[in-house]
Amino acid sequence: MKTKACHPERSEGSQSFGRRRKTAEILRSAQNDKSGKGRLWSLKFTLNGKKVSAQVPPTRTLLDFLRLDMRLTGTKGACLEGECGSCYVLVDGKPMNSCLMLAPQVQDRDVTTIEGLAHSKKLDVIQQKFIDCGAVQCGYCTPGLILAAKALLAENSHPTREEFLAGMEGNICRCTGYNKILRACEQAADAMGLKK
Ligand code: FES
Ligand code: FES
Repeated sequence: MKTKACHPERSEGSQSFGRRRKTAEILRSAQNDKSGKGRLWSLKFTLNGKKVSAQVPPTRTLLDFLRLDMRLTGTKGACLEGECGSCYVLVDGKPMNSCLMLAPQVQDRDVTTIEGLAHSKKLDVIQQKFIDCGAVQCGYCTPGLILAAKALLAENSHPTREEFLAGMEGNICRCTGYNKILRACEQAADAMGLKK
């Protein structure tokens, strides 16, 4: 959940508020630079288990590419500055702020969005526990929190409450308070046979 410290994997090469802010500024400036207007990048990567090829402007953010081009609107955009975690996707299994990544940065990589978690219309156990525990209100933070929890549980087979808190320190929820979210994560870990 949100603290001053930032998640080491929240965006590549940005491990502090100042650096994330700088990344956002550079990104905006690149998007305003019209000198390369019309050029397209041949993007190839794996999205939710399927190979994807697309021609994208090199300054398109991964967030915009997913939401506007791929119509995967589960990934949310709120602050657009790397502060809230609502735009998290997993890139090679690590949570990343898609608002601070350019689409070409996922070339040949593996991206999972919230839409990639459910299989055969069956929700992932973390998704189900968020529902069961009432950890969803407006839902804007939920995809990012679930993906953060997914990454944490993939790396840590025995997460403590403190480790859950640390694993989701890049995520802000403005509605629920965090108790229900933590309960959902802990119950998911229990259901997966992971928690101590
Ligand atoms: S929208 Fe990306 S961190 Fe807030
Ligand atoms: S449920 Fe609304 S921001 Fe978290």
